[in-house]
Amino acid sequence: MPAKEKFRISVNGEEHTVEATGDTPLLYILRDYLDLQGPKFGCGLSECGACAVLLNGAQIRSCIYPINKVGTQKVVTLEGLAATYHGTNKAKLGHLHPLQQAWIDKQVPQCGYCQSGMMIQAADLLSKNANPTTAEIQVAMNGHLCRCGTHFRIVEAIHEAAGVMRAGTKK
Ligand code: FES
Ligand code: FES
Repeated sequence: MPAKEKFRISVNGEEHTVEATGDTPLLYILRDYLDLQGPKFGCGLSECGACAVLLNGAQIRSCIYPINKVGTQKVVTLEGLAATYHGTNKAKLGHLHPLQQAWIDKQVPQCGYCQSGMMIQAADLLSKNANPTTAEIQVAMNGHLCRCGTHFRIVEAIHEAAGVMRAGTKK
């Protein structure tokens, strides 16, 4: 069994030192060491998207991303998403990211298991395309599975959040 090493990682704007073997998936570090429950274990094979997090602003599948590849890149989970938009102080006061607010407005989640990954993927999309068409949203979200069938409301919520973000109206 490989020996454990110390890794210093930035997660949601805070520095953490964790001790783990280098091949430990980032998802395990986030959930088991840092107690962040947003990213979920679904397939463990990079096929469902439940474990998605942002790494330097781009969505990755944390279930297959080893801790020894993170380095100085910045990890953001659903718990830190609002701060990427509002800044830490406002987020701490309960201000949600426009995607989170739209998810509530459109009552998107059913069981909720996939939804953290969905919002992370949507944040990735809107960082690259501020006004996506429905077809572009469908393509971007295609690799994220939802067994509850919330897809139509996800599309509506992303359109709503995109409008809020374009208008610069911070809810
Ligand atoms: S748990 Fe990572 S993609 Fe399914
Ligand atoms: S809301 Fe249940 S899996 Fe998507």
